[in-house]
Amino acid sequence: MDWGLQNRLSRIIRPTDGHTVMLAVDHGYFLGPTRRLEIPRKTIEPLIPYADALMITRGVVRTSIDPGSNVPIVLRVSGGASVLNEDLSHEAVTTSMDDALRINASAVALSIFVGAPHEHDSLVSLGSLVNEGEARGMPVLAVTAVGKELEKRDARYLSLACRMAAEFGAHFVKTYYCDPGFEKVVESCPVPIVVAGGPKLDTEMDALGLTHDAIQAGAAGVDMGRNIWQSDHAIGMIRAVRAIVHERATPKEAHEAYLKGGKAKR
Ligand code: R5P
Repeated sequence: MDWGLQNRLSRIIRPTDGHTVMLAVDHGYFLGPTRRLEIPRKTIEPLIPYADALMITRGVVRTSIDPGSNVPIVLRVSGGASVLNEDLSHEAVTTSMDDALRINASAVALSIFVGAPHEHDSLVSLGSLVNEGEARGMPVLAVTAVGKELEKRDARYLSLACRMAAEFGAHFVKTYYCDPGFEKVVESCPVPIVVAGGPKLDTEMDALGLTHDAIQAGAAGVDMGRNIWQSDHAIGMIRAVRAIVHERATPKEAHEAYLKGGKAKR
């Protein structure tokens, strides 16, 4: 791995413990003003001190993030279908590598849609993005998107999608946690995996449990959005997630320290 690429990646996945807490706030690229992310700056700014990186689009970076905040940016560069479209897989690269470099991104991210109508296009886009990333020292995060077909989140499907992403040259992969079999997804993917939180779970303990189980099974970390910023205790939640990812806290310890302990504020 080239020095520059490795250096960028190490801004996201901490070399000290090989783990990361990425805060995902890119949902607007196909969902529009998602609940509690209606005014991006208001939601994101208080959470920045606790995020190892932001997963975000260029529009929200430029309008809503202070350039002096120095938080590493994982720039979403794919898009093209809204939530109103039945086929969410019709995406392409919409943000150039030049613009990613201007923004000083630490990585670029695009979705792949294995098994979906536009599987081929998304995989070819991944290959091209890796070619550009290798040429410029820019890590590529492949997101194994499932569109509206949530039943695809089983170990067999996720192993296929994650392994393919790594074979195409992605430097790290974002996927969903699954039970059973997540450790097999991790084992058969030769690059680090970060897990999405998915739609908000019933309780905060559910999200902390998911985080803990994913780390125990070998995930490098999380790239979590709604389960953090849709919580009434967003700062407490991200601090609790950090305690699990970086300090090996149990969900109960993390919950008690940051949510029940009264330290949590929205
Ligand atoms: C989905 O493709 C978006 O890129 C989000 O970044 C991703 O779903 C993670 O956010 P959440 O934890 O809310 O699922």
